Amino acid sequence: MVEIGKVDYSDFEVDKSAAYPTLKDRVVIITGAGQGIGRGYAHYFAAQGAIPIIAEINGEAGEKVAEEVRTKHGDALAIQVDVTDLDSVTNLVNQVLSQRGRIDCLINNAAVFSKITMAPFWELPVDEWKAAVDVNITGAFYCARAVVPAMQEARWGRIVNVSSATFLMGLPNYLHYITTKSAMVGMSRSMARELGPWNITVNTFWPGVMQTEIERPSVPNERFKEYTARQSLQRQGTIHDLAKPVLFLCSEESSYITGQSLQADGGLTFV
Ligand SMILES: NC(=O)c1ccc[n+]([C@@H]2O[C@H](COP(=O)([O-])OP(=O)(O)OC[C@H]3O[C@@H](n4cnc5c(N)ncnc54)[C@H](O)[C@@H]3O)[C@@H](O)[C@H]2O)c1
Repeated sequence: MVEIGKVDYSDFEVDKSAAYPTLKDRVVIITGAGQGIGRGYAHYFAAQGAIPIIAEINGEAGEKVAEEVRTKHGDALAIQVDVTDLDSVTNLVNQVLSQRGRIDCLINNAAVFSKITMAPFWELPVDEWKAAVDVNITGAFYCARAVVPAMQEARWGRIVNVSSATFLMGLPNYLHYITTKSAMVGMSRSMARELGPWNITVNTFWPGVMQTEIERPSVPNERFKEYTARQSLQRQGTIHDLAKPVLFLCSEESSYITGQSLQADGGLTFV
């Protein structure tokens, strides 16, 4: 029987065994890093000497993460952004370039996710469908579009589009989420083809089912147990299990990998 329990992320401690020295001084925009998994990524990148940009719609939450990262590791910058608003995304990129001088990596992590409604698709609120498409797909497109000129100039870049293992499972009662997350695969593959000539890689990252510090009203503990029991690895995943492969995808060590999908789900799904 697998054990499931809330992991305490209140005082986020990175696993020091992760070592990607080539990430030092890289400027990494992480959308939706004001909480949950994105916050964990921010800590992990800063611990490598990279500069995480906490690009978050909730300005207060973003500042709080930037402050805790600076206290523990080094440089970090919070910039409030609504990824569904092109002007706001343009402002994000301009701010990063004027304050840190470069953009090396983009992690399209922001999503309509933890508070999402789970219901048969014919009962899903239409507004929530539109919000999921706006944030999860259009937001990723806007952010990628905005960072590309700086990466093309540098002839180096990393874009990671965050998908989800749930769509491989064809999970029911989640149609807006599943549909938008499946779009990340096609988006990454086409972007990889278009950006390859500038030495910019684009990959899709598929987290498995993770508990974070954020309550998920639509997913009872029993459901987490069921998913974990279906994994090859019979243990609950953590944010640490996700952050380390994302470091790799943004590092020099993944320089010949593009257009690919990487699943970090304990062997829940296979492509
Ligand atoms: N937690 C899991 O089990 C799991 C599994 C698979 C994939 N994922 C993916 O990982 C990513 C992070 O998951 P999480 O659990 O931390 O989610 P979360 O819902 O806790 O965090 C999402 C963040 O995105 C921000 N955001 C929402 N709309 C925004 C906008 N318009 N502009 C800027 N920021 C915005 C939110 O404020 C929030 O901070 C998501 O893309 C999610 O789909 C999560």
